[in-house]
Amino acid sequence: MMHAQKNDRRCGDGERQHGQAGDRARDRRAGHGFFASSTAHHHGQGSALTMPQPTDIYPRLKGHCAIVTGAGTQGEGIGTGRAIAMLLAGEGAHVALVDRDGDCVEETRRRIVEAGGQAFTLVGDVTVNADCRYFVEQTVARTGRLDILVNNVGISQPVALDEADETGWTQVIDVNVKSAMLMARHAVPAMKAGGGGSIVNISSIAGIRAHGSIAYGPSKAAMAALAREIAVLHGRDGIRANTVAPGHIMTPHAMHVLPGDMRALRRAIGPLGVEGDAWDIARAVAFLASDDARFITGVLLPVDGGVTEIGPIPAHFLAQAAIATA
Ligand SMILES: NC(=O)c1ccc[n+]([C@@H]2O[C@H](COP(=O)([O-])OP(=O)(O)OC[C@H]3O[C@@H](n4cnc5c(N)ncnc54)[C@H](O)[C@@H]3O)[C@@H](O)[C@H]2O)c1
Repeated sequence: MMHAQKNDRRCGDGERQHGQAGDRARDRRAGHGFFASSTAHHHGQGSALTMPQPTDIYPRLKGHCAIVTGAGTQGEGIGTGRAIAMLLAGEGAHVALVDRDGDCVEETRRRIVEAGGQAFTLVGDVTVNADCRYFVEQTVARTGRLDILVNNVGISQPVALDEADETGWTQVIDVNVKSAMLMARHAVPAMKAGGGGSIVNISSIAGIRAHGSIAYGPSKAAMAALAREIAVLHGRDGIRANTVAPGHIMTPHAMHVLPGDMRALRRAIGPLGVEGDAWDIARAVAFLASDDARFITGVLLPVDGGVTEIGPIPAHFLAQAAIATA
C-alpha cells in the first residue's frame, strides 16, 4: 500500500535514501495506496469497505522533506512563508527554513519545534547561486532527501517606467523569479535522485491581472511560466511544478504597507467579502505538495476568494453595497 510505502521514506540525520529512485518514479506515475484501492474497487477487485480510512492517509507528508524559502515573517505574526512551513511540518514533513533574516526564521523554527514538528534554519540569499546550492546540499545532507520546494520569497516595490529605476526593476525580478529558477536548478537533481517531488511557486494575482507595478506583476507572471516549463521538462522525472497565486491576503507585511481604507476596499470588491490569511495559502500549498495532487502539474491556482474572476460591473456594485452598509 502506498502510504505504508511512502511513510517508510523517512528523513533522518545524514541518512541518504536515494535508492529505488526508478521504483518511486514509477509509483508516482502509476497510482498507488488510496488511489490504487479506488482503482481496484472500480475494477471489481475490492470494496469500499477495504479502502483506507482518512487516518491511513494523514499526515500526508510524513517522511517527506521540504524546503520553504522566505520562511521568516517580516513583522509580528504569521506571513505566508511561516504558515506554509508550519503547516507542512504539521503534516509530517521535515522542513528546511530558508531566509536571509536569521532572527525571523528562527522564530518560525521555534514555533514548529514547540508544536512537535521537525525543522532547521538555513540563512542566506536566494538570489545567489552558491547560497541556493548550499540550501539544497545542506537539506539533503541533514534529511537524506528532498521532496518539496516552495519558492515563497517575494518583494514588492514601486518601480516607475524610466531608466532611473532599472536597478529596482532588476532587484524585483531577481528576488522573485531568478531565485525560483536557482532553487529549482539545484532542487531538481536532488528530487530526481529520490524518485520525484513537487515544486510550488508562490506568485500573486498581480501576475494574472494588472497590479499597477511595472516590476511586481511581470515577475509574478514569470513565476507561473517558470513552473509550467519545469512541469513539462521534468514530468517524466516524477516532478510536478505548480503555482499558487495569493489574492488579498492579510499578512503582517501587508498590514504594514496597506492603508486601512485599502483593506476595506479589498474586502468589498471580492465575491466572498472577506480577506484571506496566510493559512489559506498554506492549505493550498500543502495540497499541491502532497500526493493528493499527484495528477496536477503546471497549473496556476488563484487563492483569492474569486476576486480575479469577478468583472468590473459586479465588483462595482459589491463595493457600493459594502460602502452603503458600512
Ligand atoms: N500578503 C499578500 O497579500 C500577498 C499577496 C500576493 C502574493 N504574496 C506573496 O507571498 C509571498 C510572501 O509574502 P509575505 O507577505 O508573507 O512576505 P514577508 O515579507 O513577510 O516574508 C518574506 C520573507 O522573505 C525573506 N526574503 C526576502 N528576500 C530574500 C532573499 N533575497 N533571500 C532570502 N530571503 C529573503 C524576508 O526576509 C522575509 O522573511 C511573497 O512572494 C509575496 O509576493 C503576498
